[in-house]
Amino acid sequence: MDHSDYEALDGAALAAALGELASSFSLVLVHECDSTNSRLLADPPPDDGRIHVLATDLQTAGRGRRGRVWQSWPGAGLTFSALWRFAPGSPVPAGLSLVAGLAVARALEDLGVEGVQLKWPNDVLIHGQKLAGILVELIPGRGRTPAAVVGIGINLRLPPDAGVEYPTGVTDLARCLPVPPGSNLLLGLVLTQLYRLFDVYAAAGFSALRGAWQQRNAFADLPVRIIGETDELAGVCAGVDEDGALLLRTPGGVQRVLSGEVSLRLA
Ligand code: BTN
Repeated sequence: MDHSDYEALDGAALAAALGELASSFSLVLVHECDSTNSRLLADPPPDDGRIHVLATDLQTAGRGRRGRVWQSWPGAGLTFSALWRFAPGSPVPAGLSLVAGLAVARALEDLGVEGVQLKWPNDVLIHGQKLAGILVELIPGRGRTPAAVVGIGINLRLPPDAGVEYPTGVTDLARCLPVPPGSNLLLGLVLTQLYRLFDVYAAAGFSALRGAWQQRNAFADLPVRIIGETDELAGVCAGVDEDGALLLRTPGGVQRVLSGEVSLRLA
């Protein structure tokens, strides 16, 4: 595969993309690692008031939701994780993965990508095909400020024989834009949006971002199936609740589905 036009992650280029926000982040860029989520979970950096980010050019053991694998190839995508700390004693931030999805969507829109949609709880789709995935994992407080690792993978230029399976197919930015962005610019734009939206979320909760999420809801008013570990629920997608739970209109009334080990499919 030709990945000669892949731009490696670079501290100076990323700082330039972040502008005055650069000092709000602690940025660690590595050429290769197993999984940026696993690294931050295993060894969370101390809280110094900044958002800690670990990004890599190549992930060798990337993880997806529900025990799946997030595959990587040299030059094929952007993979990174951000450690977000929330107020001690606050409830589990159920809406966090939706907030992260919205941040990716806004960054893509800033680049001029059209047809960006969000699939509950956290896939980013372009005209129905998966462009990016998000894996949020919690680090329990144990006397320290509790935190969440927000891991994001965005397809930049998938190899033609990638063979990634997704019910409606996958896409990459090379197919969405005449000139796809370099990885530093893309990371800078997503981190800028994460910074802004985490701030709103911390101050006002998911309800302040609910409208923006729903505007991009891929399955709004469509018949869907929720597939759990042992059961399945069918209904019409009625958007999301104040806390980010999915609202499903069923013959028995509107049911709330909490994020977790469930998958959403078009019925
Ligand atoms: C999914 O769609 O199932 C979630 C995919 C999340 C992939 C990202 S890539 C960076 C971070 N590190 C990981 O191991 N996974 C997440």
